Amino acid sequence: RGSAAVVRDLAGLRVAISAGGTREAIDPVRFIGNHSSGRQGYALAATALARGAEVTLVAANTALPDPAGVRTVPVRSTAELAEAMRAAARDADVVVMAAAVADFRPVAAAASKIKKTGAGPAPIELTENPDILAELSASRAKPEQLVVGFAAETDDVLANGRAKLARKGCDLLVVNQVGDGRAFGTPDNEAVVLAPDGSSVPVPHGSKESVADAVWDAVAARLP
Ligand code: CTP
Ligand code: CA
Repeated sequence: RGSAAVVRDLAGLRVAISAGGTREAIDPVRFIGNHSSGRQGYALAATALARGAEVTLVAANTALPDPAGVRTVPVRSTAELAEAMRAAARDADVVVMAAAVADFRPVAAAASKIKKTGAGPAPIELTENPDILAELSASRAKPEQLVVGFAAETDDVLANGRAKLARKGCDLLVVNQVGDGRAFGTPDNEAVVLAPDGSSVPVPHGSKESVADAVWDAVAARLP
């Protein structure tokens, strides 16, 4: 898109985007988390804003400046992210789950800092978190609401992506290829946007902003 005038093709739309990675408390000072920076979600927010959308960004543990003009809601745990996304999705036309959600959380966080006892570490019992993307896909505020998910896959990337798209029930799944496989046909493709109609649109290698714009292109093509 470069310095060309930005087309405001998302004007009048409300979008809710999750970004970053959730953290699950082990005790008051420790957590289970992941390395997500939130940059892809922030790029989605910035590009949606530039294209005219009204943007809510639910940001899980990011260390990025709040984008001007975007309503940013900071969260930590998966439960907090789920609550904030449910609220934002209520009046959203498009919902994008770009956050890396912790699959598991400790059954209970210790109230006090866990101390060494000399007897070795106690195991931490985990339980599975709810699937927010599947929930938001299944309980849409309105039938025409679009729901977008992200996934990173290895091995048979397209088959894994198709299975995940079906399991989640979302309208678009942006599948990133990780590892060495060149499953997308050309070395320039680092992602593919899958839809339930069987379409798969390759996203050329590029910045997080260019991937974000490709996502909004796919969304814009599906708007009612
Ligand atoms: N996601 C979610 N809630 C979860 C886990 C994932 O909403 N508890 C969302 C992510 O934000 C992402 C999509 O689901 O948009 C795919 O995440 P991924 O981790 O690939 O899916 P999982 O169902 O957790 O499958 P896997 O076992 O491959 O990790
Ligand atoms: Ca997962």
